[in-house]
Amino acid sequence: MPDNTVFMLLGRRLRLAVIGGGPGSFIGAMHRQAARLDDHYELVAAAVSSDPGRSRTAGSSLGVAPERCYPDGNALIEAEKLRADGADVVAIMTPNDSHFTFAMQALGAGFDVICDKPMTNTLQEAVTLHRKVQETGRVFCLTHNYTGYPMVRQAKAMVSECQLGEVRLVQVEYVQGGRAKAGPGRRAWKEDPARGGPSLVLGDIGTHAHNLLRFITGLEVAEVAAEVGCIVPERTTHDYAGAMLRLGNGARGSFWVTQAAAGVENGLRIRVSGSLGSLEWAQEHPQVLQFKPLDAPAQVRTPNGPGTLPLAARASRIVAGHPEGFHEAFANLYTDAAYAIAARRLGQPADPLCLHFPNAADGLQGMRFVEAAVASSLNQGAWTSL
Ligand SMILES: NC(=O)c1ccc[n+]([C@@H]2O[C@H](COP(=O)([O-])OP(=O)(O)OC[C@H]3O[C@@H](n4cnc5c(N)ncnc54)[C@H](O)[C@@H]3O)[C@@H](O)[C@H]2O)c1
Repeated sequence: MPDNTVFMLLGRRLRLAVIGGGPGSFIGAMHRQAARLDDHYELVAAAVSSDPGRSRTAGSSLGVAPERCYPDGNALIEAEKLRADGADVVAIMTPNDSHFTFAMQALGAGFDVICDKPMTNTLQEAVTLHRKVQETGRVFCLTHNYTGYPMVRQAKAMVSECQLGEVRLVQVEYVQGGRAKAGPGRRAWKEDPARGGPSLVLGDIGTHAHNLLRFITGLEVAEVAAEVGCIVPERTTHDYAGAMLRLGNGARGSFWVTQAAAGVENGLRIRVSGSLGSLEWAQEHPQVLQFKPLDAPAQVRTPNGPGTLPLAARASRIVAGHPEGFHEAFANLYTDAAYAIAARRLGQPADPLCLHFPNAADGLQGMRFVEAAVASSLNQGAWTSL
């Protein structure tokens, strides 16, 4: 972790407004905890429910001053942009169908934005939002939080240092069991394509898997041959997708995601094989990165253990052997975004090491992948370019 704090750079913490993530939501508490872990943000404004009354009362329950608990996200953006002590950053953690609208409004009002995935529900929205980020020059952080794990960053750094040689094969899988039973899950909005997007499994976890592959390898998926559908008979929304991939450098890949594997918890795994060796990482054991060099004994890398590269060291808060996990990885994105925002506000170049958080370009690639995979599946798995 860097020695300086955003407080030292700006003379105050960044003021954070949240849209979505009310009590009982899955990811809202994670955002708020991630924002506070390294002490770069204070929560000053909230609109946390689609119901105006509940939004006000739930905002107060988070400790936000009553006059800054807004009935909806639009009211929050309009009021906060006029305050002398208004929010600096708007974080969006609402259901997928409102990410685009709130992000466009917040950027248009001059805020930096932290947004949960998928960035949008359609490719056209993603193109428009990406353009808006470029036009405004604001920081846009997309919370593909698995990229915040120290050993994922170590993997990225090792690939980029050519420790694997030329990447030839990538296998990524994200296997969950939360939708193994028929019937709507707890979050019914996800089952409605108008709200959850064109493909439940691809929007929910496929974009994470696709982004992880791109993050570690630095390669783009160029073409996909996919089958997307449902394996639970009564279901009509997608609960699995399998695909073969062709990557930008000619490497081959496989992609396997489902939320209907009974008994499985959160099995996000990746293996990257190059001409000189392979790396393997699994989210349920995030402290261990396996490195299998060609013609040499297998090794492991651990956070702040021997062989830790600067990108991974930056993401680790404690000496080797002390476990860090999901919260800390999520917080790494908030912290990196905080440094990027501070640099932008000071008119200074940001430390390149803080600029690895997923952004609007990554969100756009994610939507290109979803659209191409669905199109391929509708075309009997034909190779489809992104
Ligand atoms: N990064 C991750 O690992 C991760 C994990 C889970 C969910 N997510 C994403 O987070 C988002 C929310 O998912 P969730 O599972 O927390 O959903 P959820 O249904 O549990 O919670 C959504 C919250 O947003 C509030 N809300 C809904 N509409 C709103 C509006 N118009 N204005 C303000 N608040 C509103 C709801 O009251 C609720 O508190 C989704 O986009 C999802 O894809 C990301």
